[in-house]
Amino acid sequence: MLKIAVLISGVGSNLQAILDAINAKNIDAQVIAIISNRTKAKGLDRAREHKIPAYVIPSRKNQSRQEYDQGLSEVINRLNPDLIVLAGFMRILTEEFVNQFTGKLINIHPSLLPKYKGLDTHQRAIDAGDTEHGCSVHFVTPELDGGPIIAQALVSIEKNDDIQSLSAKVQAQEHKLYPLVVEWFANKQLELLEDKIFFNNELLSKPHCI
Ligand code: GAR
Repeated sequence: MLKIAVLISGVGSNLQAILDAINAKNIDAQVIAIISNRTKAKGLDRAREHKIPAYVIPSRKNQSRQEYDQGLSEVINRLNPDLIVLAGFMRILTEEFVNQFTGKLINIHPSLLPKYKGLDTHQRAIDAGDTEHGCSVHFVTPELDGGPIIAQALVSIEKNDDIQSLSAKVQAQEHKLYPLVVEWFANKQLELLEDKIFFNNELLSKPHCI
């Protein structure tokens, strides 16, 4: 059974969507650890509710990114998960960290990558007058939000949409998309080889779209 570590910083609604899919037996996997960089992350309540071990690793004052990531990777290496799921983990990870986990580190990002890497994605899509927006799940590589894209979900932007309504629409899609991608991992359908994605042993020429 696929062993998963989920990294969060906030509410953890994507974590919950994955837990729900596991409980519904859609995914043959176990979340073995929930790791948060924020002591007060609401998502930590979900660890207690589901009796999943939680690890809080706050950053210390004057601590370098390298030092933080080394501590984080020590915890992860001890847990030895098959898959590391970034679910709203709001830290930039060092190249050293990312390169240790190539092919088993994934992230969800609230935009149709490569558009709108970084923050404020919904506002930027509205400001640009886009009519389409969405979310992407990608393998993590050292380039921020730049790794090979596994799958995307689309939403339309209507004239009366604001950040709140748009973010709600995107999150609803995230809660479908992320469990689906994790399910593919659990079924051993996904592999990353030299920055290329293979799905069912065939090269994925463009991201899956749901
Ligand atoms: C999600 O919308 C996710 O796409 C975003 O944070 C939110 C976390 O929500 N991630 C990023 O912006 C990463 N760059 P959640 O804690 O309710 O799952």
